[in-house]
Order: sequence, then C-alpha cells, then structure tokens
Amino acid sequence: SETLAPQDTCVLVTGGAGFIGSHTCVELLQDGYKVVIVDDLSNASAKVEDRIKTIVGPEAAANLELVITDVNDRDALEKIFSTHKIDRVIHFAGFKAVGESVSKPIEYYTNNLGNTLTLVDVMRNHGCKSIIFSSSATVYGDPDSLPLTEASPKKPATNPYGWTKWMIEQILTDLHTADPEWNVVLLRYFNPIGAHPSGLMGEDPKGIPNNLVPYVAQTAIGKREAVHVFGNDYDTPDGTGVRDYIHVCDLASGHAAALAWMNGREGVEVFNLGTGKGTSVLEIITAFGRACGKEIPYVIDPRRPGDVTSNYADCTKARELMGWEAKFDVDDMCRDSWNWQSKNPNGYEG
Ligand code: WQD
Repeated sequence: SETLAPQDTCVLVTGGAGFIGSHTCVELLQDGYKVVIVDDLSNASAKVEDRIKTIVGPEAAANLELVITDVNDRDALEKIFSTHKIDRVIHFAGFKAVGESVSKPIEYYTNNLGNTLTLVDVMRNHGCKSIIFSSSATVYGDPDSLPLTEASPKKPATNPYGWTKWMIEQILTDLHTADPEWNVVLLRYFNPIGAHPSGLMGEDPKGIPNNLVPYVAQTAIGKREAVHVFGNDYDTPDGTGVRDYIHVCDLASGHAAALAWMNGREGVEVFNLGTGKGTSVLEIITAFGRACGKEIPYVIDPRRPGDVTSNYADCTKARELMGWEAKFDVDDMCRDSWNWQSKNPNGYEG
C-alpha cells in the first residue's frame, strides 16, 4: 500500500458504531484520519455517532460519516467505495456472542464469513488492499503454556463464533498468498472492558450480558441480583477463571498504532493486544467493588461449558514493532466502566 499521512487517509470502519469500533473511531478522528462507519446497528445504537462527535469536537467531527447498512449488502458497499477514496479498512462487524453462536451456526457463518467475503471482494474491485481484522485470543483455544505469544499454536475452536475468527484469519492470509499486494494485520484481542473516561460511550449489550464485566456493572446498579461466578474449582490461585482484561481505549490506540505501522507495507502480521497480566473473576468483582464503593454480591455456579481455565498475553511484539503497549490497569478499567454504567443505567437508550 502507498504511504499516506493520516490527514490524507480515509478509513472504512465496519461495525464502527459498536463497543470497540466506536472507541477506535474516536482515536482515529483525534489522529486526523477521515472515518466512514458502516454499521447495520443490529448490535449498536444510532446515538453513538453524536457521542463520538461530542467527544472529538466539531472540527474532527466533520471527518466522520455514518452509513447505516449491512456489510453483506454488496450494492451498498460498492456505492461507498465508488463515492469515497477508501485507503484502509478496519473490520469489526460481526456477531460475537459465544453461546448464541452454538445455537445459531447458520446466522453466525452467514453473517461473519459472508460479510467478510463481500467486503474483501469489493475492496479488491476498488484496488483497496489494506485491512485490519478484529480477531480474538479465542483462536488460541485452551493454551498449553502461558503467556500466549503470536507464535503460540492456533487451536480448534469450541464454538461457531470462535471458528469464524479462526476462519477469517485464514481467508485474509490466503488473500495475501494469492496476491502479495494485500496488507493484512490480524489483531488478537484478549478481554476488552472499560469505557470512554468521558462516560459518553461504553459497553451496552442487549439483553442479559454474556460477558463478565457488563454483568458485574449491571449488578452494581441493582439491575441484576448477583454475579454468577462460573466455577471456582479451576487450577488458578483463587479457583476462578483468569483472563487478560484490556481497557477499550488501549485497544483503540492499538488500532491507531497498527494503521501507522502498516502504512506503505504488504504482508500478513499478527499482534496480541493485551496487558500481559492475568486477572481472576473474583479479582474483577473485588476491583469493581472498589470502583463503585459497594460490595458486589455473587454466587458460585457450575463451570460454563467451553471456558478455558486461564489465558493472558505476551505483548512484546506489539511493543517492539509498533511501539504500542497498554497504559490502563484493572482499577482504571473498573472506574471507567462504573462511571459509564452509573451515568447510563440503560446504556444508550437513556
Ligand atoms: C470472562 C471470565 C468466565 C460471565 C469471550 C470471547 C472473546 C471476547 C470476549 C467476545 C470467564 C467468567 C463470565 C459471567 C463469569 N469476544 N464469567 N460469570 O469468555 O473470556 O471471552 O468474550 O465478546 O473472544 O471468547 O469472556 O467475559 O464471557 O468471561 O464467571 O456472568 O468470566 O467463566 O472466566 P471470555 P467472558
């Protein structure tokens, strides 16, 4: 790809109205990029556009455009690429509920794989071959050894959601094998949590949260009775699952770092985006209690099928190649998550 300054770069962000996408768009606009969000709002609120604009201010807000459509809608995508000079793509759009994917494989493979194949076909038709993909540590499965590096083996997934991440990494790798001009960065996120420090944006899952921290946050505001801890008999210091939680704003800056790093390059590169630190479920509950100043009630439930005991990242590669590393710790993440949840008890719906 050609080397471009941020001010001369237009980035298409699929799923950009979502949790990680919206925080990434704030970062890109603040860095001077032009941003076109494509989102069908199936798991995001239209209010996010104004929140992004409020955070970045009027000058940068003029560089943001939201197109409400399904990434799988080829005609709509063709129209976007015909009316904009898209230089880079960050691909977040996809269904992401692990449990739901087990009961809805057709929807997950159609949506997640289908929208990716449509996207890269339209990109190719318009000579745009630079893409960052929102991947996940889930491709490492149950690790043989920790911490996980980018050379750690990929394992068979235990659910369709995980398989779609695994398969999309393979699809994008095969694109480059077929045409070396492709410029692919695969970002493997660990566990994104937290919210924008302004309290204007945050995680807003529909229905009962699948993930731990949104459930803890809703318990803290009294929307849930108690946190259900899925097993305390794991081989970890306190028996509960260990994960590498990373602040969503650190994840956003990781995408900006990847855009800068991939500028003018070709090839396929994988980066772990984590903190390098493992935190248990009980430690999260305790930290959130500190952030909100009250005891978070919890009960111990049986293990959740498919959960791994522990995973956390070795982030040396991102630090050495991109000069990026996470800045926020778990207390920062819980503070910002509580600030968002307490100010927005019903998320974006007020
Ligand atoms: C974290 C820990 C649970 C809920 C998944 C995807 C990953 C990413 C994030 C999708 C585990 C425990 C959870 C609860 C609990 N992408 N837990 N009670 O499973 O590590 O990762 O979500 O969004 O790709 O794989 O995240 O937050 O569900 O679980 O005890 O109500 O919290 O057992 O140890 P996970 P999680």
